Parts: sequence; C-alpha cells; structure tokens
Amino acid sequence: MEIILAENHGFCYGVKRAVEMADEAANSEGKSYTLGPIIHNPQVVGRLESKGVSPIQEVADIDEGTMIIRSHGVGPAIYAEAEEKGLHILDATCPHVKKAQQDAKSVIEDGMTLVILGEKNHPEVKSINLWANNKGIIIEDEESAKKLQIVEKMGVVVQTTFSQFKFNSIIEILEKKSKNLKIFKTICNATQERQNSAVELARNVDLMIVVGGKNSGNTNRLAEVCRDVGCMTHHIETSTE
Ligand code: F3S
Repeated sequence: MEIILAENHGFCYGVKRAVEMADEAANSEGKSYTLGPIIHNPQVVGRLESKGVSPIQEVADIDEGTMIIRSHGVGPAIYAEAEEKGLHILDATCPHVKKAQQDAKSVIEDGMTLVILGEKNHPEVKSINLWANNKGIIIEDEESAKKLQIVEKMGVVVQTTFSQFKFNSIIEILEKKSKNLKIFKTICNATQERQNSAVELARNVDLMIVVGGKNSGNTNRLAEVCRDVGCMTHHIETSTE
C-alpha cells in the first residue's frame, strides 16, 4: 500500500509555537498552567498534563505559578488580572492574532466603526473584540453585512481562519456601506493551505485518513472537505484506531 502525505499538514506555526512554549514551561521550575486547553487535541493536552502543565478555566483558579495564554489570545483584562496576582505570564498568542487585536484597537482609537468578520463565539474573535473595548460589530455572512448601516468611516478586521472566498463577497457589500473603508486583511493562510492540500490528495487516492483531535474544528473540516470530493475518509485521533 502506498501512503502519501499531504503537502501541507500538521500544526500551523502559531499552534506549534504555543505547544513548544508549554513544553518549555513543563521543563522549567515551578508550576505552569494553560488558560483553557492549549490545543484541541486530547493527546497533546494529556501529555502536557503528565508533565505538570494543567489547563485552568479562569485566572481565579490559581494564585501562583506561570500562566500560558494560548494561541487564540485573550482580552486585556486577563493580563491585568494575572499581573495583579503576581502570576508569570507566558504569552503564546499567535502573532497573527496579536496583529488582528492591535488593528481592531487602532480602528476604535481612530474613531471608526469596527466590523469584525468571524464567528461570534470563537475565542479568537472574542479576544479581538475585547481589545476594541467590545465595540466591534461581528458578522459572519453576507446577509448580516447587508443589514449594516451606512457609516462615515469603517475599519474591517478578520478572524485569521476566515474563508478567503467569503471575505471577498462580504467586502463587496461593505464597500457600499462606507466611503472610507479601511481593510485589515488579517487572514492567515495556514488553514486554507491545509484544506487545499487535503482536497488535492483526496481527489487522487482511494482512502483518506485525517489525523487530529475529534474536538478540533479544523480537523473536522479537513475530513469534511475530503468527503465532499467523494473520497472515503476516516477521521482518527490515535494510532490504535
Ligand atoms: Fe495558526 Fe496563527 Fe494561523 S494559530 S492558523 S498560524 S493565525
């Protein structure tokens, strides 16, 4: 049997960096915690936990040690709360997400209406909006874009994993909503590249095995795009499967 590996696969830059930072924390002195699971992958979370890096729900759960902020990022109040408690902060926010947070902040500081393209309940989108004092209008489809009021100045920031295709069609609508439209195209290509590679491979093989957390939106989506092109696909998490 021939096994072919997709051209783009594995952790993206931001997640890899976050996991490496958590690994380093595990090998250093003192107790370390991640604010929420570092990644949607139970095996990695379990491995880190066995090395003493446990996930916590909120800052209030701990009184000392190192707190790792995951790649999705958090709002400014979390930094303040952790600093006040004297916790050591290890910031693994992906630099692409950081850029989106800072862009959103600058849009509000410049007195523009902020529109964030993304999923309302996604932690990354929430963190971006928190840097803009929660003043952003979050939309994820063309219908909601059409309902927006016409404004003098509008700034647009995008969830890093947002679809390029949807971005283009929503921007077309937003161009009619403001004469001064400033677009911060904060899309990261890592997700799209992995989906493109998976589709390309699925079209040319008899069977696809997609490996990754069952609770990972990105991995589920990879399996979905492979099935969409008619390839028999199994989503597995461990080698025993
Ligand atoms: Fe990953 Fe950062 Fe892009 S977390 S998907 S490299 S925005």
